[in-house]
Amino acid sequence: MVLKNIGLLASPMGKKVKKGPEQGNITLIENAAIVIECDRITYAGPDNSSIKGDNQIDCKGALITPGLIDCHTHLIFGGWRQKELPMKLAGAAYLDILAAGGGILSTVEKTRAEPIEELYQKTNMLLSEILSYGVTTVEAKSGYGLNTETEVKCLKIAKKLDIVHQVDIVSTFMGAHALPSEYKDRRQDYINLIIDEMLPLIAKQDLADFCDVFCETGVFSVEESGAILEKAKSLGLKLKIHAEEINNTGGALLAAEMGCISAEHLIKIDDAGIKALAKKNTIAVCLPCTSFYLNEDFAPARKMIEAGVPVAIASDFNPGSSPNLNLQLAMNMACYKYKMTPGEILTAVTLNAAAALGRQADIGSIEEGKIADLLIWDAKDLDYIFYRYGSNLIKTVIKKGIIC
Ligand code: NIG
Ligand code: FE
Repeated sequence: MVLKNIGLLASPMGKKVKKGPEQGNITLIENAAIVIECDRITYAGPDNSSIKGDNQIDCKGALITPGLIDCHTHLIFGGWRQKELPMKLAGAAYLDILAAGGGILSTVEKTRAEPIEELYQKTNMLLSEILSYGVTTVEAKSGYGLNTETEVKCLKIAKKLDIVHQVDIVSTFMGAHALPSEYKDRRQDYINLIIDEMLPLIAKQDLADFCDVFCETGVFSVEESGAILEKAKSLGLKLKIHAEEINNTGGALLAAEMGCISAEHLIKIDDAGIKALAKKNTIAVCLPCTSFYLNEDFAPARKMIEAGVPVAIASDFNPGSSPNLNLQLAMNMACYKYKMTPGEILTAVTLNAAAALGRQADIGSIEEGKIADLLIWDAKDLDYIFYRYGSNLIKTVIKKGIIC
């Protein structure tokens, strides 16, 4: 396949995460062409008359970028939580709703009860919607099962959909998402269940690439999170952590100390945390839609970039704190609220997001050798997609060299 008449090709370059001034330093090529053989890019650069192919696509002067990568979602869950909206409007705090048995725990009940076939169909539909917004790879965290059977059920759905659906899925085990109500007075027993039963089983059945923990006041402490991540690491899983989302508990320091690939949320990160992430090259995954929906502060993404922390942006799609799965909206918010530049944000949802999933060698940029995950936008320049918020500006999605 040959893409001709590209008005502007915009992409970060390379196979490594970008930080500091490098994050905004993307390549822009006017009047470009891309050649794809099987599922890989074999040429991306200036167009000329010698570039031809049997299957030629006229891009009509459009903007082309890499496929978007949503590197933080809680994709698989039963039901929805619109009933929390009145409580939220009346001023109930997120952690209060959770402590009262609502929040995550109410979704756990629905996820446990939902037959696997229904949950599979629902997730399949969500993936198709995600793809329509230009997302070609998505991370999916478990964590609405909180027992071995349902955690495995959800991870198996992700594994099957990764094969069946066009969107690629990277799975993360997050059994430490909340303390299930049946363990209310036996928290150590639940932590032991994760460490002694769930993690070994998930590693053995190869059901996840990553392990994540919700390190937060009233959820899992730094010590408990450390013990769970330690075990995951010993089993060969890569690590992520939900840190400093609602309170600063020191999760970012733990992320750096344990060699987590990413620390996520970080609304309340302090200077010591930022310094630790920068030193270890830990990727900060920032989630502006969550701040918006919870009416919370926005993570100090600008400050982190300036301190040399690589930043990725994701949707945090979940039923409780971010019911939006349009990553374009997260990109707009990163621009308006984090004050990140279009170039920095493009890197944050492509190459840096790929790195947050350990996939930077294969996806996240448009260059020879990478997988042909590409977007043809209904736009002629990059600024336009950050300006026209609220519309889906994707014209065509190309996934592994195939038009979706
Ligand atoms: O990323 N922080 C923890 N988990 C989700 C929310 C999950 C829920 O409320 O269902 C989050 O915000
Ligand atoms: Fe999250």
